[in-house]
Amino acid sequence: MPRAEDGPAVTSLIVDCPPLDPNSAYCNLLQCSHFADTCIVAERNGRLLGWISGYRPPSNPSRFFVWQVAVSAAARGEGLAGRMLDALLARPSLRGVSHLITTVTQDNEASWALFRGFARRQNAPFAKAPLFDRDIHFADKHDTEWQAEIGPFLAETENEKRT
Ligand SMILES: CC(C)(COP(=O)(O)OP(=O)(O)OC[C@H]1O[C@@H](n2cnc3c(N)ncnc32)[C@H](O)[C@@H]1OP(=O)(O)O)[C@@H](O)C(=O)NCCC(=O)NCCS
Repeated sequence: MPRAEDGPAVTSLIVDCPPLDPNSAYCNLLQCSHFADTCIVAERNGRLLGWISGYRPPSNPSRFFVWQVAVSAAARGEGLAGRMLDALLARPSLRGVSHLITTVTQDNEASWALFRGFARRQNAPFAKAPLFDRDIHFADKHDTEWQAEIGPFLAETENEKRT
């Protein structure tokens, strides 16, 4: 789980991970404090190399919304992003979640592969539809964000039965 003290390192990791939008340092502090139990950091030798921010939307807390996934170029291709997602979903703070939702731009192949891989591991359906449109929502300044919806996940008891 992140701590507020991780905020500056999270901010600089995001800046180093285009095409992620760099958000305010203050916003990242809120994620590292108010939303710490639904966010995750990964460190190696004291260096922050991975980050996922997410939360359960107040209007529909049975969903887990994943906002940004960032893995330093120095740690890519090692399965880190996938392991961070799996670790988050295993947390007590995400008990009762039936779906993971996220948004991805059409051309972000690594991100689609990450979420399709997660759906495969969960043996859960995967659906994709445009959510935030380039013209309507971004005033032509950002590519359309497509929503990926993964779920429903198997109920805990069914999962236990399978093991
Ligand atoms: C996307 C990102 C988080 C992936 O991190 P990672 O730790 O290297 O990912 P993983 O090693 O867990 O790989 C997950 C899947 O993506 C695939 N993948 C990773 N990089 C890829 C690439 N550049 N192109 C295509 N597929 C890729 C892997 O093969 C794996 O697929 P598999 O499960 O079918 O084997 C990382 O590339 C990144 O930070 N990119 C910049 C920021 C970004 O685009 N974030 C996502 C938007 S929310």
